[in-house]
Amino acid sequence: MSIHASAGEAGVAAAEQVAELVRSNPAAVLGLATGSSPLPLYEALARKAVDMSAVTAFALDEYIGLPAGHTQSYATVIRTHVIEPLGMTTGSVHVPDGNPEDEEHAGGAYEAAIAAAGGIDLQILGIGSNGHLGFNEPGAPFSSRTRAVTLADRTRRDNTRFFGTLEAVPTRAVTQGLATIFDARHLLLIAHGSGKAQAIRRALTGPVTEEFPASLIQLHPSATVVLDREAAALL
Ligand code: GLP
Repeated sequence: MSIHASAGEAGVAAAEQVAELVRSNPAAVLGLATGSSPLPLYEALARKAVDMSAVTAFALDEYIGLPAGHTQSYATVIRTHVIEPLGMTTGSVHVPDGNPEDEEHAGGAYEAAIAAAGGIDLQILGIGSNGHLGFNEPGAPFSSRTRAVTLADRTRRDNTRFFGTLEAVPTRAVTQGLATIFDARHLLLIAHGSGKAQAIRRALTGPVTEEFPASLIQLHPSATVVLDREAAALL
């Protein structure tokens, strides 16, 4: 774990871990979080000008039902904040299909694509204020795989800031499962701000329980947590 004076400095430290991996393995496979937490990492990584053109990546999650090109769809967010600034290859960066023909089978092809890429070397993670990872809300099984899920009310309220009104926030999403996330060879959890302090305390020092999905990180053999002082304040 490392604790930094600001979110920007935490982003620089987290970016260095990603850069080290990609320098040693230019064809590394990354897992990409969205939301506000990883943005300082992506910005710092862009400044490092590491060659990311051979990297493959898989986004953690996507809302269901947004029209293609919607500014808040994670496909758009990943293109704007990751693919373009980092010079990644569009066809090598995967985002779950947010308009699946059949929600019951929404995750199988994504799991197969991750397996075909050789698994995820490094999964970047944020944390929800309710302890969610990706969109694995409290109660999601640790054995879960990529699938369609219903968003918790608290998540929809938290994410209203991106959509303007609560009604505009989708109610469903496709997310990598907790087992999918746990299979990554390394986890890199990033949090900043006082709003995450309670969640970080429960994730790192509370009981390991499906009622608080991020507590799963305690069981992972290779996990790094990068925080600013505010997010670390209750540790
Ligand atoms: C979002 C995403 C998560 C993200 C989390 C925290 O809804 N689905 O992948 O890690 O909630 O978001 P933020 O970083 O904006 O606080």
